[in-house]
Amino acid sequence: MGENNRVIIFDTTLRDGEQSPGASMNLEEKLEVARALRDLRVDVIEAGFPIASPGDFEAVQAVARAIEGPIICGLARCRPEDIDRAAEALQPAARKRIHVFLATSAIHREFKLRMTKEEILRWAVEGVKRAKDYCEDVEFSPEDAARTELDFLCEVVEKAIEAGATTINIPDTVGYAMPQQYGQIFRYLREHVRGIDKVVLSAHCHDDLGLAVANSLAALLEGARQVECTINGIGERAGNCALEEVVMALKVRQDFFGLTTQIDTRRLYPTSRLVSTITGLQVQRNKAIVGQNAFAHEAGIHQHGILAHQATYEIMKPEDVGRSSSDLVLGKHSGRHALRAHAERLGYHLGEEQLDRVFEAFKRLADKKKTIYDADLQALIEGILHDGRPEMWKLVAFHTSAGSGVIPTAAVCVQRADGQQFQDAACGDGPIDAVFRTLMRITGIAAQLRDFQVRSVSQGEDAQGEATVEAEYRGRLYRGRATSTDIIEAGALAFVSVLNQIAWREHAGVSTAPVAETISQP
Ligand code: KIV
Ligand code: ZN
Repeated sequence: MGENNRVIIFDTTLRDGEQSPGASMNLEEKLEVARALRDLRVDVIEAGFPIASPGDFEAVQAVARAIEGPIICGLARCRPEDIDRAAEALQPAARKRIHVFLATSAIHREFKLRMTKEEILRWAVEGVKRAKDYCEDVEFSPEDAARTELDFLCEVVEKAIEAGATTINIPDTVGYAMPQQYGQIFRYLREHVRGIDKVVLSAHCHDDLGLAVANSLAALLEGARQVECTINGIGERAGNCALEEVVMALKVRQDFFGLTTQIDTRRLYPTSRLVSTITGLQVQRNKAIVGQNAFAHEAGIHQHGILAHQATYEIMKPEDVGRSSSDLVLGKHSGRHALRAHAERLGYHLGEEQLDRVFEAFKRLADKKKTIYDADLQALIEGILHDGRPEMWKLVAFHTSAGSGVIPTAAVCVQRADGQQFQDAACGDGPIDAVFRTLMRITGIAAQLRDFQVRSVSQGEDAQGEATVEAEYRGRLYRGRATSTDIIEAGALAFVSVLNQIAWREHAGVSTAPVAETISQP
């Protein structure tokens, strides 16, 4: 297959994805996602917007230092200070790209930028040239391109190419385009812009009307050869084009598109789980490719068909995206060896010490739960892998009472890192709230609860519940997650994890003061 049929997968989970409300990640978490993206074999990782905040700068720099293989990209407005900052953050990268953007639509020109067309053209050219002084690989995005007058879009794109841009991205910033119309923009550009055949055309779609994947595929049919996307489709508002969906559409319908990517599709599901765990953004059950129900067959007629021949009701195999077809994995009598083999099949390469901890937790879970499914094992491993920090507080025991006509109360005992135990009790709006209030009384940390969710990890009456807690303390958001067969215990453990993170920041001398954003995100 010729090179022209190869689609570049540009992942922006760490930049546009991180702009999802409540999805912010710390440095360690961003590095972990970047490692997973490298293993997934994405071509480009957009690691952040370096001028946006010191945290963004550090994250781009750390990814540039640590990740080899993909091109590492940093975002910048067409302003000298942005471009210089992006170049500085990307300096350690073996392969780097500066991505400059400037809005071009009439509404943005008039109300946001208050700039004339001539000024836009000048800034775009100067931005691309300045980025080019730092690196060969420069991407230019006319923000809100999908709502920009076509003749002006052609003019800007032509000037950006003349100035040295190597990739031209056409963002549908507000998710307004329709597939046919978005595809036609690419066709029009290819027919009217001088030098267009020298650059890679890229699609960048938002999902406000649920069309981000459809629009991206329409662009590919009209000559785009790069797609900008995020894991689980996370992103600003309704999100971005979902990487797993666009990649699998190209793979399953290779006959239709005739295009390929270099993605290792067996890493899609583990990567989706990782991003969901780290961001706390749960994947909807019926989400294509990575949702819990994506390969579940309920209707008897479907089950019968599947047993007779898998292809009757399945257009791809669960294994193709890194999920197992036989979901039932382990039981009480499974040994260390089997556990390691299953973990590896799910994409986790555990060191000896990690395996010890996972095995110990697995045995405890197997005592409470007869059948352990892939999802149980994943939740357990992820809980342990992301719990590397020293714990200031450990939950020892709790008791709750609740019911109709009863004041919900909780009694909780926790142990501090120095071995001393503390116990207290409190009332609340429900048993979980009472546990949280008691924990705050004991630890003296008055966090504000912002979100609390529970979902079932696997199936069956004894299914584990996964609790996610989001709480704010001194202007900073903390997220904790835990699983247990008892949802009150899962909630308590998730909240203890939040309190430990807050205590850890205090203890490590890391400021718990709010981080001032120095710039608003695009
Ligand atoms: O949606 C958008 O326009 C963007 C640009 C910065 C590429 O994210
Ligand atoms: Zn975007």
